[in-house]
Amino acid sequence: MITTYECFVPPIMGFGASKRIGIALHARGHKKAFVIYDKGMEDFGIAPPIVENLHMSNIETVCFDEVVPDPPDEMVEHAAEIARTAGCDVIVAIGGGSSMDTAKGVNVLINNPPPIRQYFGVPKGLRPGLPMVFVPTTAGTGSETTNMCVISCVSQNKKDSVVSPVCLGSLAILDPELTLGLPPRSTAMTGIDAFAHAVESLTGGQANPLSDALARDAIHTITRWLPRAVENGKDPVAREKMLEASYFAGMAFTNALVHLGHSIGHTIGARFHVPHGLACAFCLPEVIEYTAWTEKEKVEMICEEMGVTVPEGADWKEVGALARDAIRALIKKVGLPNLEQSNIPLDELVKLAPMVTADTGFAIIPYRITAARVAEMFRSAYSA
Ligand SMILES: [Fe+2]
Repeated sequence: MITTYECFVPPIMGFGASKRIGIALHARGHKKAFVIYDKGMEDFGIAPPIVENLHMSNIETVCFDEVVPDPPDEMVEHAAEIARTAGCDVIVAIGGGSSMDTAKGVNVLINNPPPIRQYFGVPKGLRPGLPMVFVPTTAGTGSETTNMCVISCVSQNKKDSVVSPVCLGSLAILDPELTLGLPPRSTAMTGIDAFAHAVESLTGGQANPLSDALARDAIHTITRWLPRAVENGKDPVAREKMLEASYFAGMAFTNALVHLGHSIGHTIGARFHVPHGLACAFCLPEVIEYTAWTEKEKVEMICEEMGVTVPEGADWKEVGALARDAIRALIKKVGLPNLEQSNIPLDELVKLAPMVTADTGFAIIPYRITAARVAEMFRSAYSA
């Protein structure tokens, strides 16, 4: 099979990397940065030193600190208006997925007229935006590597996404020091999101040699280091490993996309307002178990990277069950609740099964699956 694939967004990685932002932007010829973050980044003292670092390299800044979770289209359009008027030549996003999604939305609108909802999907003919620099403060979304932004459309009461090269960053600054203060629950949820990116991109219909290598490394690292990062958030090695693994998994996801675990996660998340990482975790063990039906070799790789021995001659059902149990054990080890513990009613949940098949990621699933089978997964995962 001939495979084509691309590699995106180079990183500056390591403790203290954020202290190199001014030099890095100055070397690229930038003079004025539009810096995007939320109030928490100000309160926790994360954004101010980064802004100061830019000033030390003679880079002017215009700051937008009004980012809120699940960025609404109106806020993104307001930020883009400020950015356009300010005449900045680079965009910097500091924070988690919401800050990065806001930055990407601003970049879509910097040279294209609002509203942003007209660009949902895979728009053609967008005028290019500015270079974007991402400084993630969580390890999980992988948003720093992806070519899509998720925006909440207020008037239509739904989330949608823009998938475009205009959403791609030009540099990711990965400084584990910025993640040391992340609480255990957020560490667990974002870390499992990264794990889901890795196992789904490895087993999806668009996997390729580059994404496979990145995904396998991320699975190996997250299995070993996420429990440590949850247990002791100040462990510098665990934080460094997780930020690196999240970036690797994000690159794998950008190249090969994700499938059923995320389709289920998006559907449950939208209906029951569950955080993304947790929503994706609920049925991930069952999804990978079932995926062994057509991707037995890939699921064996997941077992291998997780340190699970697969007996010689094991059939797909046995391989699937081993992977399911290992993934479930990891999710439990980092303290994430199941569907029942999250107070999601089973009868309401089962009604969502047909909606899962309408999610974009459903097209990437490497096999055919019915809504009835998805409902079966819900039942099997419910109290597990
Ligand atoms: Fe995700």
